[in-house]
Amino acid sequence: MAGNNRKFFVGGNWKMNGSKDSINEICGWLTAGDTADTDVVVGPPTAYLGYVQEKLAGSGVYAAAQNCYKVPKGAFTGEISPAMIKDIGCEWVILGHSERRNVFGETDELIAEKIEHALGEGLKVIACIGEKLEEREAGKTEEVVFRQTKAFKDKVKDWSKVVLAYEPVWAIGTGKVATPQQAQEVHARLRTWLSENVSPAVANSLRIIYGGSVSASNCNDLATQGDIDGFLVGGASLKPDFVKIINARKA
Ligand code: PGA
Repeated sequence: MAGNNRKFFVGGNWKMNGSKDSINEICGWLTAGDTADTDVVVGPPTAYLGYVQEKLAGSGVYAAAQNCYKVPKGAFTGEISPAMIKDIGCEWVILGHSERRNVFGETDELIAEKIEHALGEGLKVIACIGEKLEEREAGKTEEVVFRQTKAFKDKVKDWSKVVLAYEPVWAIGTGKVATPQQAQEVHARLRTWLSENVSPAVANSLRIIYGGSVSASNCNDLATQGDIDGFLVGGASLKPDFVKIINARKA
């Protein structure tokens, strides 16, 4: 969509990777790099969230939890709550990632409840959607991503605290990136859906970012597309080239 004011947004999803040593290195090149024109958020494993939050304090790069539960506290072994994420000074959480959906069986409804609670507690949310290969091949991409987004819509009151991440499952961790045209097509359709089902204002202001095998070599072409407002990056966020992805619009 031409003429928008959406600030470029790049998230790094470290998944279950890292150690204190490797995190020290990553935070070193990340804070030394040029991140001025982009909103940059990185998601360390929970064990290191507080550590990374403190290391990045004041740098302009923010830490995100990779998941959280839908209530403030209680007998939920292994879970963390938005209240805890906020308590350590962290403002962001990634919810609905395809690995949460497909490895850990999270449903649209649970993810939407988590988003509702996280937003209610004052967190900002990177909310993820995306179709599987068999769904794309069956011509169901739109049906799937609209269904996933509708589940969010039913619970989200304030979209200004949300970034929507479109991550086709077949592109995640496979090296098989969506073409700029494939990604743009889905982003544009999502924006139309949002315009019709939420509001034109939300459709115009919401950042829709692409994820799935984004790298320093493919990010520039993706970033030229009018409805791609940034990226959610897995593997490549662990390497110094991540800074090139952060600056993909400048190339
Ligand atoms: P990838 O992961 O960049 O390694 O494909 C993306 C993601 O899962 O967010």
